[in-house]
Amino acid sequence: MAIRSPIINVMANAALKAARGLVRDFGEVEQLQVSVKGPGEFVSTADLRAERTLRSELSKARPGYGLLFEEGGASDGSDPHHRWIVDPLDGTTNFLHGIPHFAVSIGLERDGEIVAGIVYEPTRDEMFWAEKGAGAYLNDRRLRVSARRRLEDAVIGTGIPFRGRGDHPAYLATLARVMAATSGVRRLGAAALDLAYVAAGRYEGYWEFALFPWDIAAGILLVREAGGFVSDLAGGQTMLASGDVLAANGALHLPLAALIRDALRPPARIAT
Ligand code: IPD
Ligand code: CA
Ligand code: CA
Repeated sequence: MAIRSPIINVMANAALKAARGLVRDFGEVEQLQVSVKGPGEFVSTADLRAERTLRSELSKARPGYGLLFEEGGASDGSDPHHRWIVDPLDGTTNFLHGIPHFAVSIGLERDGEIVAGIVYEPTRDEMFWAEKGAGAYLNDRRLRVSARRRLEDAVIGTGIPFRGRGDHPAYLATLARVMAATSGVRRLGAAALDLAYVAAGRYEGYWEFALFPWDIAAGILLVREAGGFVSDLAGGQTMLASGDVLAANGALHLPLAALIRDALRPPARIAT
């Protein structure tokens, strides 16, 4: 039986409370889907409402901590050592389209290092959580990354850039390499859950570019505490700053990184 620390309880309870509202609103979206106006504005309100709940719950429990929220931005607290990094609704496009795959993500940073994280997926009631040094869990079950060691057996998650975001040709070059080498690529639409799925051994690996800290803060710790590796493209640890993420189990992190780096290498110029 996994023993949750007080800080994990604070985070999990805040997520559960925000998720109750999201689930109610998701039911509404399924109705609005068929109206001409569509659920767009309604979803932004749902997103903001979830953020307000999280802000108030987390600040009530730990009043001095700084905040980095997707919608509300950054604010310093009286405690310079701690900061919440929160995405109230990861997977907004899924939510907007009535696709039941979205999550609340909460990371806790202490002196620049992520020390606790939870990713809660309400439609399956899956609470992924991790604390530095204490392991990663799905509800009460300890998580380990997948043991598959060969790229050809691997299922890899990714995020595909959209609507003008990111470098589409460069991304397509990486996709071409990964799809040719593996058992399959998945694009489920919520980065926080993609990382949680690597931690849970559902995916062998995951890559995406140009993400934000709130998409990945909690998920990075989940992967590490489940025994996996997370890096930026160059193998460094600038993920929160660069937004580039490459996560995998121990056996596949280097081979996957090599494939992706190779795909992004500029073609050699032919001397004339
Ligand atoms: C998005 C999701 C998606 C990823 C996007 C993110 P949002 O977050 O994580 O999977 O591909 O780049 O922005 O907007 O749904 O919170
Ligand atoms: Ca997000
Ligand atoms: Ca979001």
